[in-house]
Amino acid sequence: MKVTVFGIGYVGLVQAAVLAEVGHDVICIDVDENKVENLKKGIIPIFEPGLTPLVMQNYEAGRLKFSTDAKEGVNHGIMQFIAVGTPPDEDGSADLKYVTAVARTIAEHMQGHKVVIDKSTVPVGTADRVRSVMSETLKGRNASVAFDVVSNPEFLKEGAAVSDCMRPERIVVGTDNEDVVDLLRELYEPFNRNHDRMILMDIRSAELTKYAANCMLATKISFMNEISNLAELLGADIEKVRQGIGSDSRIGYSFIYPGCGYGGSCFPKDVQALIRTSEQIGYTPRILQAVEAVNDDQKLKLPAFIKRHFGDDLKGKTFALWGLAFKPNTDDMREASSRVLMETLWQAGARVQAFDPEAMDEAQRIYGSRDDLQLMGTKEAALHNADALVICTEWKNFRVPDFDVVKNALKEPVIFDGRNLYDPERVSKRGFVYYAIGRGASVKLHN
Ligand code: UDX
Repeated sequence: MKVTVFGIGYVGLVQAAVLAEVGHDVICIDVDENKVENLKKGIIPIFEPGLTPLVMQNYEAGRLKFSTDAKEGVNHGIMQFIAVGTPPDEDGSADLKYVTAVARTIAEHMQGHKVVIDKSTVPVGTADRVRSVMSETLKGRNASVAFDVVSNPEFLKEGAAVSDCMRPERIVVGTDNEDVVDLLRELYEPFNRNHDRMILMDIRSAELTKYAANCMLATKISFMNEISNLAELLGADIEKVRQGIGSDSRIGYSFIYPGCGYGGSCFPKDVQALIRTSEQIGYTPRILQAVEAVNDDQKLKLPAFIKRHFGDDLKGKTFALWGLAFKPNTDDMREASSRVLMETLWQAGARVQAFDPEAMDEAQRIYGSRDDLQLMGTKEAALHNADALVICTEWKNFRVPDFDVVKNALKEPVIFDGRNLYDPERVSKRGFVYYAIGRGASVKLHN
């Protein structure tokens, strides 16, 4: 099947590569010439396990092409994916200018029937907007060409994007035209082999499904973070509580890990966007507001522990930081807790020596050269002569460090762990003061 994907971001590139891999003939269109030229040379703009070989194999096989020529893109596919970004505007609403620009472009060039598929996370009502932008543009051309607009949100996770997309748990399709369902079934047939994963619904329900899923997951995390604060005050251990409640199959073990807050390109943006949508229709979304507020506070938890231990003035102090990315297996630092941590430490006069297995270039790009940030080549180098160790991301190789090396390198044996990686008793026995989320030394300090 001929497919066009507008927007070579996370979602667009992964979706395009996966569709090419199962045999479709895919062209990706982006306005960024540099990105397109780089992709043709095998330079992939994002770090994502398995993506580079997938893109290269399909590019070389001629099933995956890259271009900046929008007209070529519109002529190519009957399926026209919109996978451009929807960044938050000043008030937190999703900004649809890129989505509507693509809709206009499709309508400017289309000669025959097209199925326009919203893949970007867009507020409820966007499909209607896409439809009206396209109708107006066609009217301006004096053209009468049929088209359909479908909502087909993406649920992939960074760090597992290729496998999530290859083996989706569900394929949500929102449409008001039964006739396009067969086309979508053909498109997604290779992913439906063992059992049908397609969930058909009306367009608005599909649009809301994406926000509801992300907001539900964010709610689980903020709920656990709230309970971890209670555990701390009550002298309980959140990790025991987590196991205790996770064993109830109605609750389950996944996505109930407390920590120094959720980040990334989706949860903060989508929770905020659904809050704005609610407010615009006169509804106060009390749970969502709390989810956001708890998360904002949670990102200040490690700086608060640090100030409690060392005092408010951190001039002359140096902190080793392990983990810059918002989660492991990505180089993405959007809304990462590490950023709030570093910025708070800098404000109080401290320096940071940071290490992350993948996000070093990204940190350099965001913060440039500054005296109070040193990016170190290894996790051990980051410790050298630092006053304490702070952990913001649960990368695998942070889980079993050589504690003697850590202790010898630090001026004071103190660990501030935002991801609860260690057993408090064991690290205390090794002579560390250990602050973690909802347990350990933080508990003692409160009592
Ligand atoms: C998320 C959704 O999982 C995905 O379905 C959607 O398409 C996009 O948004 P992603 O942003 O890649 O994916 O990351 P995810 O793995 O969901 O983690 C988000 C944040 O939550 C991270 O900062 C992570 O550290 C945090 N988290 C996750 C917790 O603090 N505790 C948990 O139990 C799980």
